[in-house]
Amino acid sequence: MKLSENHEHIWHTIPRVPLGFWPTPLQEASRLAAAIAGPTLWIKRDDLTGFGFGGNKIRGLEFLMAEALAQQADSVITGAGPQSNSVRATTAAAVHAGMKMVVVYSGTPLDNIEGNYRLVRLLGAEVRFTGDPDRSSVDAYIETCAAELRSNGGRPYVIPRGGANTLGALGYVRAAYELAEQCAAQNIAPDVLVLAPGSCGTQAGLLAGVHALGLPWRL
Ligand SMILES: Cc1ncc(COP(=O)(O)O)c(C=O)c1O
Repeated sequence: MKLSENHEHIWHTIPRVPLGFWPTPLQEASRLAAAIAGPTLWIKRDDLTGFGFGGNKIRGLEFLMAEALAQQADSVITGAGPQSNSVRATTAAAVHAGMKMVVVYSGTPLDNIEGNYRLVRLLGAEVRFTGDPDRSSVDAYIETCAAELRSNGGRPYVIPRGGANTLGALGYVRAAYELAEQCAAQNIAPDVLVLAPGSCGTQAGLLAGVHALGLPWRL
């Protein structure tokens, strides 16, 4: 498999704002593997993507921000629960790209301004609450906010919860290519990838990438 040739050819054709530092390290966790008497264990260090402590979200945001800029959006809207990592990472990326950020949180305003909620406010986002603790209330309210901004002459770019749409998932298709190259270079042949899904955008992208490359990796 001439992975590196394919890699360059495919990924240079899709607009992407450079935010992270690639490839992220692939690190062996031998003591953890021994402690749990488990198999050989490697960790793809996507906690080290390098932009705004954004972890896995930065990969998708590179593609999403490129589309927002191409559409000449003047604001970005996303949402989730008030301590969302995804919202914090998206806010940092939007502000970095010079766009206004509107955040939709489920529930009602928090008494304690801490953690990601605090960081989002420090980054200058306009914060709105749905008034409903159900996280899915965010989806409709995002559209309400976008319609309001448009009616006032704005050009909002909507990112769904977790950045989990086709373009956002492309981040982890590319990650599968990156990981496959690292594994080939380091002579590692994983049989299982383990990940923690939330919105499942990461999982969808990895699945598509693993399938596209015909890799024998089980997720
Ligand atoms: C630290 C962390 N890991 C994993 C995930 C899950 O990623 P995804 O939403 O793409 O399933 C999230 C977000 O939900 C997260 O914040």
